[in-house]
Amino acid sequence: MAKPSTKVWDLEKHTEAKHAILKRYLQAWFPILSSFNDRILYIDGFAGPGEYSKGEPGSPIIALDTAIAAAGDNKLKPKAEILFLFIEENKSRCEHLESLLAGRTLPHNIKYSVECGKFNETLTSALDQIDKQKQSLAPTFAFIDPFGISDTPFAIIERIMKFKRCEVMITFMSGFINRFKEHPKDIDHIDALLGTKNWRHELLEDKEKKGEEEIVEFYQERLKSVAKYVRSFEMKNGLNQTIYRLIFGTNSILGLRKMKESMWKVDGQGTFTFSDRTDPFQTVLFELKPDYNDLKKLLINQFRGRTVTIEEINAFIVTETAYLDSKIKTEILKPMEYANPPEIRIEGKRRKGTFPDGTIITFI
Ligand SMILES: C[S@@+](CC[C@H](N)C(=O)[O-])C[C@H]1O[C@@H](n2cnc3c(N)ncnc32)[C@H](O)[C@@H]1O
Repeated sequence: MAKPSTKVWDLEKHTEAKHAILKRYLQAWFPILSSFNDRILYIDGFAGPGEYSKGEPGSPIIALDTAIAAAGDNKLKPKAEILFLFIEENKSRCEHLESLLAGRTLPHNIKYSVECGKFNETLTSALDQIDKQKQSLAPTFAFIDPFGISDTPFAIIERIMKFKRCEVMITFMSGFINRFKEHPKDIDHIDALLGTKNWRHELLEDKEKKGEEEIVEFYQERLKSVAKYVRSFEMKNGLNQTIYRLIFGTNSILGLRKMKESMWKVDGQGTFTFSDRTDPFQTVLFELKPDYNDLKKLLINQFRGRTVTIEEINAFIVTETAYLDSKIKTEILKPMEYANPPEIRIEGKRRKGTFPDGTIITFI
């Protein structure tokens, strides 16, 4: 972890994993969003210096280079502009970031600006300006990656999410909150972070029973008031200790699917485990191979005795479970159709073992 005085610090393994998720997601997000918007915005609210002690890139550089690479591969609509807003409070980190950015050659449609200031203040005044001019915020991905919990009030998240096609990914320090929730000086910060004082009776009253999990649950519920889909991914180290949660909020089912794909693909080394808290009773570890038996059980629980389309099944998997819908046809539905006796029945004509769009399936 960085000392307040150091300009750059060592890259830790969990940060590397977080960066890999961010990069994979942006590799999908830039091309998709730029294909049907003339302008999109990436905000890095706690940008850091842009590199780590051994020269490894920080999140602003990763994001910018991902967009530059996508432009080079003709994956961006040439007319679409991609804007980057990097906010960093610490002056020397801010200057360091500016010097790194200045060394890059940008395509004509990629632009950035670095604001040396506080996240909340900077973004609040930018959004005030947008409101004053009765304009709208361009579709935005906001990466909010603080060290602690101050200066990330819920009010600013709410303002971002009010605009169409905006999404947020937040490093949520639930352990930190749990440790400090009774310290008078932190209570105000927690009020702001959660955007309400209600947590005080809900989470402080029955102290024995209410811990980190309940704090995450509480925050997820708050985020659900402004984002249709909310996912919290627990980042753990090799000793199975939680480091923090990455909490993602979006109104796009495609965005949710792409984020889940990024998470599933990242931990190829097995150094980290990410678990997905889809609901309080369902925690799934991201492992090299998904547990299709578990997913099959979830599908049977949900659809037993019902007739549904393949699209409904896919939407259920993406929004209500920790899994991806990419292999369910071959890994689950096909074996269920071929089972003796069959576990599903298909209406209408098609080749056995295939499930084209619109296929109607009855779970026996
Ligand atoms: C966790 S680091 C960011 C790391 C960076 N996102 C990355 O992944 O490479 C948090 C950064 O936020 C900066 N910071 C702290 N408080 C801030 C605030 N209120 N507004 C903006 N930046 C802040 C710190 O100086 C630090 O560089």
